[in-house]
Amino acid sequence: MCGIFAITSNRRQDIGQILVEGAEKLTYRGYDTVGVATVHKGRILLRKDKGRIEEVAAKLGLAEMPGHKGIAQLRWATFGAPSKVNAQPHFDCDKDIAGAHNGNIVNYLPLRELYTSEGHIIRSMNDGEICVHAVERYYDKIGDMVEAIRKGCGDLRGDYAFAIMHKDDDKVYAVKMGSSLFAGIGEGETCVSSDLPSILPVTRNILNVHDGEMLILSPESIEIRQISDNSVVERSPYISDADIRVAQKGGYPHFMLKEIHEQASSARSLFNAVREPYITNFEQALIDAERIFFVGCGSSYHATSVASYYFNDLAGLSAIPVVGGQFISQFGQTIRKGDVVVCVSQSGETKDIIDVVHHCKERNSRILSIVNVLGSTLTYLSDIYLPLGCGFEISVPATKTYTSQVILFAYIAARIGIKQGVLSKDMGETLLDELQTQLPDLLEQTIATTTVKARSLAPYLDQFPHFYVLGYGLTHGVALEGALKIKEVCYIVADGMYSSEFKHGPLSIVKEGYPIVFTVAPNDAEHLVNHLSEVECRGARIILTAEDNSLLKRYVAEEDYLAVPSSSHYLSPIIQAVPLQLLAYHLAVFKKIDPDYPRNISKTLTVR
Ligand code: F6R
Repeated sequence: MCGIFAITSNRRQDIGQILVEGAEKLTYRGYDTVGVATVHKGRILLRKDKGRIEEVAAKLGLAEMPGHKGIAQLRWATFGAPSKVNAQPHFDCDKDIAGAHNGNIVNYLPLRELYTSEGHIIRSMNDGEICVHAVERYYDKIGDMVEAIRKGCGDLRGDYAFAIMHKDDDKVYAVKMGSSLFAGIGEGETCVSSDLPSILPVTRNILNVHDGEMLILSPESIEIRQISDNSVVERSPYISDADIRVAQKGGYPHFMLKEIHEQASSARSLFNAVREPYITNFEQALIDAERIFFVGCGSSYHATSVASYYFNDLAGLSAIPVVGGQFISQFGQTIRKGDVVVCVSQSGETKDIIDVVHHCKERNSRILSIVNVLGSTLTYLSDIYLPLGCGFEISVPATKTYTSQVILFAYIAARIGIKQGVLSKDMGETLLDELQTQLPDLLEQTIATTTVKARSLAPYLDQFPHFYVLGYGLTHGVALEGALKIKEVCYIVADGMYSSEFKHGPLSIVKEGYPIVFTVAPNDAEHLVNHLSEVECRGARIILTAEDNSLLKRYVAEEDYLAVPSSSHYLSPIIQAVPLQLLAYHLAVFKKIDPDYPRNISKTLTVR
């Protein structure tokens, strides 16, 4: 949620331009409000409003704002409605300091009361403004920004990162306390951002930032200090080889479609990203575990759901998939040494997951993780993490990262299965080979063969305010994921369910023409016949994704059969997610919704 980008430069006097470019690359983090503050001739200029970056930038001339340093912020609203006054950055009382944050200040209300009673003029209902007044509170007494920020952080509770600047120096100051922050050191300019895509156009010289640290950015260098004791931290930057073109649409109308198409290549790059000895150590930790929990939110949770079937079938290990936000109240009390908690997160910043990690670390259980964004909080907190190597996923709905998570789980389960003698060497190695060498082509073929039908179904599905997506066994998680994509980008209530549960109530909703989408893995086709018959005889319109199967064909019209290429049973949950992603994408486009930025959603949710 929310994105900040700040820069100080001795090369530019037209800082608005690069601030807008940086902010545009963070659009996926929030698009409720946008603001830019710059320092020009000893004054802070501030322009902000409700709306997306391209609208607000055009309306307020953000790119034309002069200055040598500045801060841009995109907001995903939590504290305070999306409005001009609640937009960030914020001024302090006398407008000589401006700052913006990402995250949550949980003691916002008591601090607001306290600061107001001390005479502070607090203009908004947004917790980001509290960060600015917290610093001002001490700056006005001490006259030193570093000390004021350190003391100000002592007032603030929560998980956050902020950037702040004073009108009278050439510096930008930034703090990381639980939310993501990256820094870049360019030629005559330095910058910080909530994510790498906005830094890479400035420089590839990247400095990782850890929680509890403050950065003092000058145009020539960045100094890192520990907020707790003001000690200087020595850390060298590294050269990022992240592909900046990935943050462009590359000819596709939307990032979502581009990222759906990138699934074949990210399936290939996964196996370059995952290295020894980490993968073997990861597997051994699972083999040695007393209990295994898989924890994720949203799409990442759905990947863990599929993974638990893989672990049961292939590895002979039982793993409990749990929704991140539920974990502590459901299992927290019994967590102990010997338990292994596998956290799955694209961003590596999801607050519900980070809370689980802290809880479990205190109880000495091991934390393994599967994560896409390197340098994210989860990578630092994990005993072992495996990277997905998907590159940037810009579109808010997860697609390629979900697929790579499932592939990695299948791969690990098969390797453990071979090691533990659960799978025969032949069967295990065949599956590993399919995952590594055949799957990318199968994903490409699936896109090619299902796109037209998925697009053609959009006008029909658009007539229904709700429908179901049903899966069974391995494809239950796929059904949940397909339904989530439809809800998220089409604003339709799509319910993902276990198909055998449908008769226990929801069946009553079925009438002539009611759409029900099924996802069927090859070995379950025979079993699914009952579930298909139950809805077919009541007039449901069955839309189905499965490989070509004469049994299933009896229940589905040709135009509603999204046939995927033949593969092994265990590849089917990976492949079958694709037609459902395409269905959601084309339905969103038909409904004239921008699937990259569905309303009210942020890609990185750093609030509980
Ligand atoms: C849905 C989606 C979200 C995320 C969820 C977890 O398309 O993208 O449901 O999967 O917010 O995010 P990460 O994986 O970053 O922890």
